[in-house]
Amino acid sequence: MNRQLHLNLFIHSRGHHEASWRHPAASPLPLTDIRYYQDLAQRAEAAHFDSIFLADQLALGDDVAQAARTWLEPITVLAAVAAATSRIGLIATASTTYTEPFNLARQFASLDHISNGRVGWNIVTSWLAAAARNYGGDGPLSHAERYVRGEEFMSVVKALWDSWGDDAVVDDRAGGVYAREDRIRPIDHRGDYYQIAGPLNLPRCPQGRPVLVQAGSSDTGRRFAARHAEAVFTAHMEKATAQAFYADLKQLVEAEGRPRDQALILPGLSPMIGSTEAEAQRLSRELNELADPEVGRRRLSGRFGGYDFSHLPLDRPLSPSDFPDPEKVEAARSRTEVIIGLVRREKLTLRQLLASLAGARGHFTMAGTPEQVADLMEDWFTGGAADGFNIMPPILPQMLDVFIAEVVPLLQRRGLFRTEYTGETLRDHYGLARPPGMRA
Ligand SMILES: Cc1cc2nc3c(=O)[nH]c(=O)nc-3n(C[C@H](O)[C@H](O)[C@H](O)COP(=O)(O)O)c2cc1C
Repeated sequence: MNRQLHLNLFIHSRGHHEASWRHPAASPLPLTDIRYYQDLAQRAEAAHFDSIFLADQLALGDDVAQAARTWLEPITVLAAVAAATSRIGLIATASTTYTEPFNLARQFASLDHISNGRVGWNIVTSWLAAAARNYGGDGPLSHAERYVRGEEFMSVVKALWDSWGDDAVVDDRAGGVYAREDRIRPIDHRGDYYQIAGPLNLPRCPQGRPVLVQAGSSDTGRRFAARHAEAVFTAHMEKATAQAFYADLKQLVEAEGRPRDQALILPGLSPMIGSTEAEAQRLSRELNELADPEVGRRRLSGRFGGYDFSHLPLDRPLSPSDFPDPEKVEAARSRTEVIIGLVRREKLTLRQLLASLAGARGHFTMAGTPEQVADLMEDWFTGGAADGFNIMPPILPQMLDVFIAEVVPLLQRRGLFRTEYTGETLRDHYGLARPPGMRA
């Protein structure tokens, strides 16, 4: 079969545009209503998407007065969505900096059992400065230390998931043997951050291990992804940087001794779709006019680790010197590079920059017809920029519905996307191997 692209639905607020929550076409449900997530997952499942994806931050944003960016805890949500769906993959974000590895390994193994093998973990090291203050720390760990700790975390959770052989549970009621003790082994991990005996207290999960997803794009983040990630989320505002990222990451994956098709690269794509290009642009303008530039200014400051942008006028063209050096940013370093690159190329004013980030926070946005969206996806997919996309509808559920009704059939007609599920697990959908686990 020809290579086909992978589609995730990234669920965020009432859509990815910062002002979507106010738009009349957005869902009428509260963001704390589980039916909102279940319903979106069911729509994506009916269209044979690979997965849904939930992001997470461990602190309340400072823009809650004007921005609907609160959500339910993702692992809890996945359990409820698992019970309301049967085929679609379920990916949740959880932090290596602020979670205990034993808890995390147990929660994701449980979810994989609950969903019959449909779970993925988006591994983040948590860049948000405010998160540190919620976990008893004096301040955020440095970018480098977060990744060092993340590395040790990964060896612990992998060992825990592999601490039961696939054949450990016998469940022989007549003979009175529940499990083979020789197939359940402690991990006895002694490291710089963690001292963990193991084994895990539940059997190996259907996928062996949950699918490992990662989204770091800095040099350190890419090396981490190359070692661990089976799917990589990434943000680009133009095809050229997406191609460079794709080439670099695949090469790093091979350098780690892994096959390049075992690490899928999925850039974010936020399409505003209209029956004509003019209609799509009108819809985008309508949303941009609902966005408050002062909310965007505060959010920009958060991305740059709290850097003060309050002195910058909204309508003067920006230059890279208005920003701190990305190398010195301890927060979301790679995204700051994307933003400065955009300023350098397009000489935007602060107002224009904030409008372009309001669309999808530094991911690729476009306004066009279904054909234009499908053409772009095909171009990136065949042109070495993507193995698929993290679809980020600007308004939910409206723009998801339009994408499913108008773009998905075009992709299917071109042979680029499945017309039905051929497997059961997220590993099946993504074409990923099952980790072999404990040797006999
Ligand atoms: C699609 C996508 C989703 C992300 N979701 C989260 C998230 O939910 N929580 C979080 O703390 N960071 C999230 N990140 C940030 C990354 O984990 C990473 O910290 C960031 O891209 C900066 O990369 P770096 O850590 O390599 O500098 C996300 C990034 C991308 C591209």
